[in-house]
Amino acid sequence: MCGIVGYVGKRDVIPVLLGGLQKLEYRGYDSAGIAYIQNDKMHIVKSKGRLTNLEKKLGDVVAENTIGIGHTRWATHGEPSDVNAHPHTDAAGDLAIVHNGIIENFAKLKTWLQAKGIHFISDTDTEVVAHLINYFDEGDLKTAVMRAIKMLEGSYALGVMSIKEPHRIIAARKDSPLVIGLGKGENLIASDFPALLEYTKDVYLLDDGEIAVITEKDVEVYDSYGNHIEKEHFTIDWDVAQAEKGGWEHFMIKEIHEQPTAMHDTLMARMRDGKIDLSEINITEELIKGIRGIHIVACGSAYHAGILGKYVIENIARIPVNVDVASEFRYRMPSPLLSKEDLFIVISQSGETADTIAALREAQSKGAKVIAITNVKGSTISREADFTMHTQAGMEIAVATSKGYLTQVLCLYMIAAEIGRMRGSLDDADYIDFIENLKKIPSLLEQILRDKEKIQQLASQRFMDVNEFFIGRGADYALMMEGSLKLKELSYIHSETYAAGELKHGPIALIEQNTLVMVLATQTVLMEKLISNIREVKARGAFVVAMTQQRNVETVEKEADMVLPLPDIDDLFAPILAAVPYQLYGYYTAVFKGCDVDKPRNLAKSVTVE
Ligand code: G6P
Repeated sequence: MCGIVGYVGKRDVIPVLLGGLQKLEYRGYDSAGIAYIQNDKMHIVKSKGRLTNLEKKLGDVVAENTIGIGHTRWATHGEPSDVNAHPHTDAAGDLAIVHNGIIENFAKLKTWLQAKGIHFISDTDTEVVAHLINYFDEGDLKTAVMRAIKMLEGSYALGVMSIKEPHRIIAARKDSPLVIGLGKGENLIASDFPALLEYTKDVYLLDDGEIAVITEKDVEVYDSYGNHIEKEHFTIDWDVAQAEKGGWEHFMIKEIHEQPTAMHDTLMARMRDGKIDLSEINITEELIKGIRGIHIVACGSAYHAGILGKYVIENIARIPVNVDVASEFRYRMPSPLLSKEDLFIVISQSGETADTIAALREAQSKGAKVIAITNVKGSTISREADFTMHTQAGMEIAVATSKGYLTQVLCLYMIAAEIGRMRGSLDDADYIDFIENLKKIPSLLEQILRDKEKIQQLASQRFMDVNEFFIGRGADYALMMEGSLKLKELSYIHSETYAAGELKHGPIALIEQNTLVMVLATQTVLMEKLISNIREVKARGAFVVAMTQQRNVETVEKEADMVLPLPDIDDLFAPILAAVPYQLYGYYTAVFKGCDVDKPRNLAKSVTVE
């Protein structure tokens, strides 16, 4: 989860590192630090809290024509503090490292090193690596790093530098992302593309087990045995403007407003001659005829996208879909149940979520061909999956996802339509109609984004709530999982999602006078039942805010305290539209509460640890 950055070149290394860390702050933000070499000395500056604290500490120090590494932390071992912040060093402070990942055998290694008289000052797993590299350093840093990482269990992306070799950074990775930016007369390392874009779009994507030696003029990559290897360049297709707020107050609201374009682009990327074409991801008639079921595995909002996908695929394609949280799937005892006749789909915006990667590998080890839905080309998941369907959301920076989630949902709708068509459960006319509905979505989302006053007003009235409920039935229930998560993540208001029919089996005990119950009511066949559920909570004092298509407003108005209208669209597609008002509700509630919307407390965007 942490962000690492490193620079070798002529520029003043301080603003390069700080700028890079700022772009990576979404990965963790409880402390930050940098190391740079100047006048033959290693300088380390670290600070607990946000990056601005580090900037203040650094003042106007300048360090040109040198090397440096930086880190922004999401604490795993040891509380956020100056001491636990990276970079960590050897005892003499001559060697500095930054690390993203978890060293699982750190306690054993620490005891081993302590027995050799080495003294530790932090609670981190990373400090072990610094001492270990120093222990093996007999004059060649690359060899020392290679020997040290052979002893590590767990995951790491590492940036290492030493005053004994002041012109190069050594980088290594296993199960944590690391990219190398190839500049002109300068080179960089980073956990992710945004930190590099200002300098270059040409990168090497380091693979597990590889080690790189980065100097001003050159980057050399070696396999885990030390053999020199030729890497292919990868070109990032995002540009630097996407990593800027462009006049918006927060990335979150910018990205919410980018959804019409993201949805349009994601749909059009797969349309050929008026039809959806998924042959590139192996969704072919031959494959579909042979499958018995579908597994979808993901984390967080991507998991919620999978749940909505389940409702839509089962409805349209009439095939059972099993959706699992990746951290549960991978450890199913004694092992996950998977048949070769099942289609396996993983979903991940970042393409770097550790548990999702592990689930993908587990499925492949069982002989499954994995389809990935991901937003980041070149990410681990996009490289390791057998087939990848890229969402066209563009760079997503706000920690809580919006356009990432909605474009994943769209991909699952496309998969549903294709499988339905191939299996004959969706006839030609309905298939065309399905596509027409999908095409309408971008302009309807624009309309929702224009008419957001009612949501803002509701947020201004409810931002002091301590508890809210999000309920729905069928696909609406799936969407409410995401609606509730947005509120929770952004505003820290406790919110629960419940299948409306299940509420009476316990959670209804929590409904008190004026408890806000958000109801999504877009599924006509379930409307009667849902209205009964509205009455049940209203009878216990709830304040009910219901969302439904314009055509149902009159009916729902009789039951709810407030109705939020959605543009008219077929029931199956209405949950897609409903995602946006709930994102806006979470956003404005958080703004009224004064929360840090783009970087909610305790969260990180890219969860690269288990
Ligand atoms: C984190 C983010 C969520 C995201 C989840 C899965 O928890 O804060 O927004 O949904 O990770 O991330 P992925 O990149 O795999 O979609």
